[in-house]
Amino acid sequence: METGRGSKVKKFKPFLLLIFVLLFLFVLYKLLYRDLSRPNVEFIPEMVHSMAYDSFSPNSNFPDGKTLQEPVKGTIVRGLFPEYSEGSLTEETAGKILVNPLQPDKSVLSRGEIIYRNFCVICHGETGMGDGSVIKKGVPPPPSLKTEKVRLMPDGRIYFIITNGRGNMASYRSQISRADIWRSILFIRTLGE
Ligand code: HEC
Repeated sequence: METGRGSKVKKFKPFLLLIFVLLFLFVLYKLLYRDLSRPNVEFIPEMVHSMAYDSFSPNSNFPDGKTLQEPVKGTIVRGLFPEYSEGSLTEETAGKILVNPLQPDKSVLSRGEIIYRNFCVICHGETGMGDGSVIKKGVPPPPSLKTEKVRLMPDGRIYFIITNGRGNMASYRSQISRADIWRSILFIRTLGE
């Protein structure tokens, strides 16, 4: 028998409910059992990964056309003592201008001794007399470090000799840190004591 429009009562549809429940469970599963070690889906990758310049790629934003910019002139690494550029000082002026920033306390002297033993002892010898192991093999002996001359030599002057080298003594600028050079200077003052 025909039924009227008004009698079209919405029927309970079990399969629709099933779809909703399945959908709900699926979303729940996706939320709870995510592999957190994997990155999420990226919708706008350009925002996630900025399009940075490579360090050595050309860059028209800077006057010199380079991406990697030089540090400001005179910049020094934090925690390091200032570098004195080659040519700006002589042994004489270094002795007047450069001041040892350290005091000869126990830790400074024991580190200074390690430096002396690693770098200087082969020529200057255990007690600084200039009789190190290579001298016995024919290397011309260096002057003694126990002389009046060295005793009166300002630390800055010795710093200059160690960083620039002199005669047969090489430059230790690239091998010994600035702080350790100052430490070794304080140590050689105690040699033979
Ligand atoms: C290869 C051997 C050698 C080594 C290693 C060496 N020296 Fe020398 N040192 C010399 C010679 C040679 C001289 C003299 C240079 C000259 O005036 O011609 C000298 C000079 C010096 C002087 C000046 C002495 C003076 O009377 O004018 C000092 C100070 C000194 N050295 C300290 C050191 C210290 C500190 C080290 C370690 C960091 C060191 N040297 C490592 C060979 C060496």
